[in-house]
Amino acid sequence: MPYERHLEGKTAIITGASSGIGKEISLKLGEEGCKLVICARSENKLKTLKDKLDNKMDVLVVPTDVRVEEQVKTMVQDAAKYFGDIDILINNAGVIRYGEIEHFSTEDYKTVMETNVDGTFYVTREALPYIKKRKGNIVFVGSFDSNHPRSLNPIYAASKWWVKGFAHSIEAVFGQEGVGVTLINPSEVRTGIPAEDGLSYKEKFKEGEVIEPEEIAEIVAFSLKRSASTTLSQIDIYRRNKLSDFF
Ligand SMILES: NC(=O)c1ccc[n+]([C@@H]2O[C@H](COP(=O)([O-])OP(=O)(O)OC[C@H]3O[C@@H](n4cnc5c(N)ncnc54)[C@H](OP(=O)(O)O)[C@@H]3O)[C@@H](O)[C@H]2O)c1
Repeated sequence: MPYERHLEGKTAIITGASSGIGKEISLKLGEEGCKLVICARSENKLKTLKDKLDNKMDVLVVPTDVRVEEQVKTMVQDAAKYFGDIDILINNAGVIRYGEIEHFSTEDYKTVMETNVDGTFYVTREALPYIKKRKGNIVFVGSFDSNHPRSLNPIYAASKWWVKGFAHSIEAVFGQEGVGVTLINPSEVRTGIPAEDGLSYKEKFKEGEVIEPEEIAEIVAFSLKRSASTTLSQIDIYRRNKLSDFF
C-alpha cells in the first residue's frame, strides 16, 4: 500500500517506558523493527523490559526523570550518539493526582505540572532538531481529560489540555517541515495508574471493560505508518459508554 510505511530501522524514543502504555508501545515498536530508546526513572524495570525485547541489541536503556532538564538533554544526546538519528518521539510519561482545588497540595500540583507539562516540553524541545531532520513523527499521549472539564482531577485535566494545545501547535509549526504529529486521547486504560479510590485501573476494571494498553500501542504504530504526506492529528478512544457518565 503506497500510503502505508514500514517502521523497520527507525529510531524511537519512548518516555514512561517502564510500565503500562509506554511499555506496550515499546514492545510493539520493537516488534515492528524499530531501534528503541526506553526512558523512565525505574532503571530495573527498563532493564527487564529490554530483556523481553527480541531486538535487545537495538535497545538503549536511559534512566531519565523528565522533570529534570539536564537529564532530558543527556538522554536525547545519548540516543543520537548511539543510533545516529532519531525518527520518532513518543511523549508518554505522565502522572495523575486527584483532589478538590481548595485541598490540593502544592507538592501534588508541582508533580503533575512538572511531569506532564514541563517534561513534555523538555523532551520535545531536545528531540525536535533530530526529528525535523528526518521528517519524523511525534506522538503525544493526552487523555479523555484533554477534551473535557474534570471535577475529579482539575489539575491533571488542565495539564492534559496543555498537552493537547502543545501537540496541535507543534503540528502547526512543524507540519510544514514534514513532521507528523499525533495526539492520542484515551479514556480508562488498564494500567497501574491509580483511579480516584486508590485502586489501579488494572485492579478496578476486568479485561474487556475498558481499553487495554496493547490497543494504544496498536494505534501508535498505525499512526506512525501513515504516508509521509499525512498526519493522524488526533485520535480519541473512549470506553463505549464513557459519555453516558455525563449525559
Ligand atoms: N491509564 C489510563 O487510564 C490513561 C488514560 C489516559 C491517559 N493516560 C496517560 O498515559 C500515560 C501513561 O500512563 P499509564 O496509564 O501507562 O500509567 P503508568 O503505568 O503509571 O505509567 C506511567 C509511566 O510514566 C513514567 N513516569 C512518571 N513520572 C516520570 C518522570 N518524572 N520521568 C520519567 N518517567 C516518568 C513512569 O515510570 P517511572 O515511575 O519508572 O519513572 C511510567 O513508566 C500518561 O501520560 C497518562 O496520563 C493514561
